[in-house]
Amino acid sequence: MVKPKIAPSMLSSDFANLASEAERMIRCGADWLHMDIMVLSLFNHFVPNLTIGAPVIESLRKHTEAYLDCHLMVTNPLDYVEPLGKAGASGFTFHVEVSKDNWRELVQKIKSKGMKPGVSLRPGTPVEEVYPLLDDENPVEMVLVMTVEPGFGGQKFMPEMMDKVHTLRKKYPSLDIEVDGGLGPSTIDLAAAAGANCIVAGSSVFGAPDPAHVISLMRKSVES
Ligand code: DX5
Ligand code: ZN
Repeated sequence: MVKPKIAPSMLSSDFANLASEAERMIRCGADWLHMDIMVLSLFNHFVPNLTIGAPVIESLRKHTEAYLDCHLMVTNPLDYVEPLGKAGASGFTFHVEVSKDNWRELVQKIKSKGMKPGVSLRPGTPVEEVYPLLDDENPVEMVLVMTVEPGFGGQKFMPEMMDKVHTLRKKYPSLDIEVDGGLGPSTIDLAAAAGANCIVAGSSVFGAPDPAHVISLMRKSVES
């Protein structure tokens, strides 16, 4: 049985108090902290938003030993492996859409920096595109199925993405399968039933009067 990992998305936290927000989430029962790395450029950005990079991860690492689950929404993930490794990132998940030519090099470098490699796919990307990365002799160790268009928190969960999760779970019984976007008490059962075990949740956790309750509810759903 794959272990549940509940990962609050720090994108919904108070960035001015990131260290205490991280500590609060761990106290509330979070397993991982999900860190959304987005870069907005004039041309060729992956998402139309700008968040944090390696300097913030490095600062946060000084305040917490938590697993920092980094989700790279950038067009050139390879450039971030070295700086994020040095900064103390734990997981490094890149998007398959921008890594067609260099995923082998990416996976190898991510592992050599002591991070766990993951691959993510946008809602429009067919699940088959990640098979080569899972069937390789040096495979990725997690698949992140986006359940909203990446870029912003607070969007509506796309239930039709559950087919991808289900297909992956059937084919890879012990794989870490993460879902991200619109997860919360009203959508967790669908994701859990499809076979997701790593649950990213931003607005539903940070917006709740009792985040610990939301986290434990999601854990129970994945466990059952
Ligand atoms: C969106 C990010 C998500 C986001 C999720 O691109 O990858 O991690 O923070 O936020 P919610 O849970 O509010 O949909
Ligand atoms: Zn994310």
